[in-house]
Amino acid sequence: MSAADDLARSEALSPNDLGAFWMPFTPNRSFKKNPRLIARAKDMYYYTPDGRAVMDGTAGLWCCNAGHAREPIVKAIQRQAADLDFAPTFQFAHPQAFTLATELALMAPEGLEHVFFANSGSEGVDTALKIALAYHNVTGNGSRTRLIGRERGYHGVGFGGISVGGIVTNRKHYGGLLGGVDHLPHTYDREKQAFTIGEPEWGGHLADELERIVALHDASTIAAVIVEPMAGSTGVLPAPKGYLKRLREICDKHGILLIFDEVITAFGRLGYATAAERYGVTPDIMTFAKGVTSGTVPMGGVIVSDRIHDAFMKGPDHAIELFHGYTYTAHPLAVAAGLATLEVYRGEGLFERAREFEAHFAEAAMSLKGLPVVADIRVVGLAAAVDLHPRQGAPGALGYEVMERAFHHHDIMVRVTADTIALSPPLIVKPSEIDALFETLKRLLGEF
Ligand SMILES: Cc1ncc(COP(=O)(O)O)c(C=O)c1O
Repeated sequence: MSAADDLARSEALSPNDLGAFWMPFTPNRSFKKNPRLIARAKDMYYYTPDGRAVMDGTAGLWCCNAGHAREPIVKAIQRQAADLDFAPTFQFAHPQAFTLATELALMAPEGLEHVFFANSGSEGVDTALKIALAYHNVTGNGSRTRLIGRERGYHGVGFGGISVGGIVTNRKHYGGLLGGVDHLPHTYDREKQAFTIGEPEWGGHLADELERIVALHDASTIAAVIVEPMAGSTGVLPAPKGYLKRLREICDKHGILLIFDEVITAFGRLGYATAAERYGVTPDIMTFAKGVTSGTVPMGGVIVSDRIHDAFMKGPDHAIELFHGYTYTAHPLAVAAGLATLEVYRGEGLFERAREFEAHFAEAAMSLKGLPVVADIRVVGLAAAVDLHPRQGAPGALGYEVMERAFHHHDIMVRVTADTIALSPPLIVKPSEIDALFETLKRLLGEF
C-alpha cells in the first residue's frame, strides 16, 4: 500500500468515522445517519458528548442495577487492575474467585451451591446446556440429549442459546442449529392477559405442554428444560401463576433437569436476589450475568446443585472433571467488580427497594393505558413493557421512532424490540424519577 493510500485510509477511518464498527442488534445505516452517542454516565443518567443528561430507563441493557459509575465498584476495579490484571483459572486461581463463588451460592436459593464462571449471558447459557448434557452422560443416562426451550425465549446468541431460544429473527439465518431441540409454547395471550400487573392468572396450565413433549419424545431422551422465569427480551412476560411450580413437578417426575435463565431476573430486577426466590421454585441450574457486576465488567455463569456438581467429582484425582471453560473465566477485574457490586446491593438494600417500589412503578406504567397507540402493558418487579399497535405494513417502525425521539428529544433512554417498549431502570431509581420517566413517555406517545 502506498503512503497516499495509507493517508486516504486513515482519513476515511478518522476517529469520527462511524463506518468500521458493525453494531450489534442495530439498524446500522439508520443509526449512523443520526447517532445516539453516550459519552459518560453517573447514577441514573447518561450524558451525551455535548453534556445533555438522558435518564437511563433501561439500566443500560438490563444490567446496571446499581446505577452508573458507582464509586465503590469503580474503586474496586481500579485497585484490582493495579494488583492483579489477569491470572489463569485453568489449573491456577486467584483467591477472590472463590469468595465471589461462595457469595453467589449463598445468594442463590438453598440447594444451588457451585458456580461456574463465564463472561456473558450467552456463555452462561451454553455452559448450562453443556453441563446438563454432560451430567446425564456421567450418570449413565447418555440417551438424554434433547433440550427443550420455549417460544419467545431469549437465551443469548450462541448456537446453543439460539437453538433453545424462540425468536424467529435470531434463528432463521443460522442453519440447522442444535439437533434434538423442541419448544414449549409461550405463555402470552393478549385476550386473556391484557394489562396484567405481575403474574397473569391465565396460562399456568401451559406448563402441562411439557407432558405432551415428553409423550412425543420419551423422557429417556430429554436432558433439560430451559426457561426464563420472566421472559425479558420479548417483552416482559412474567410466568403465569403456578406455571414454574408445575414445570418443576413435571421435570422431577421424568428425571429432566430444570434450568432457569436468570440473566435478567437475578440481582433484584423482580425484587429478590433471584426469580427462583420470588416464585419459590428452585431449578437444578441457574444462569446469571448482567447484574452480577452491574454491567461494569463482562461476567456470566451458572450456579448448580450439589447433585450435579458432585456427579462429576469422581475418577482419578489428577483427571479434569469437566472439559469446559474460558480464558477469562473468573477474570480478576470481573470478580472484583462482582464482589463490590454485591456489597452495594446489600449495603443499600437495593433488592428490597425494588420490592418496595414495585406497586408505584406498576401504577406509573399503567397510567399509559388508554393512549391510542398502546395495545398492552405488562409489569413485574421494576420491569415494564408497553406494546404499541404496529404501523400498517411496517412492523417495528413505530417502536424505532419512539426510541429515537425518546433519546434525541425527550432525554430518556428506552429499549424497543419491534413495537414493544421495555423499561427496567437501575434499582436506585427514586419514586419521583419513576414518575418523570412515565410522564415523559406518556407525552411522547401522545405525539403519535
Ligand atoms: C435471559 C437472557 N439470557 C441470555 C442473555 C444473553 O446475555 P449476553 O448478551 O450477555 O450474552 C440475555 C441478554 O439479554 C438474556 O436476557
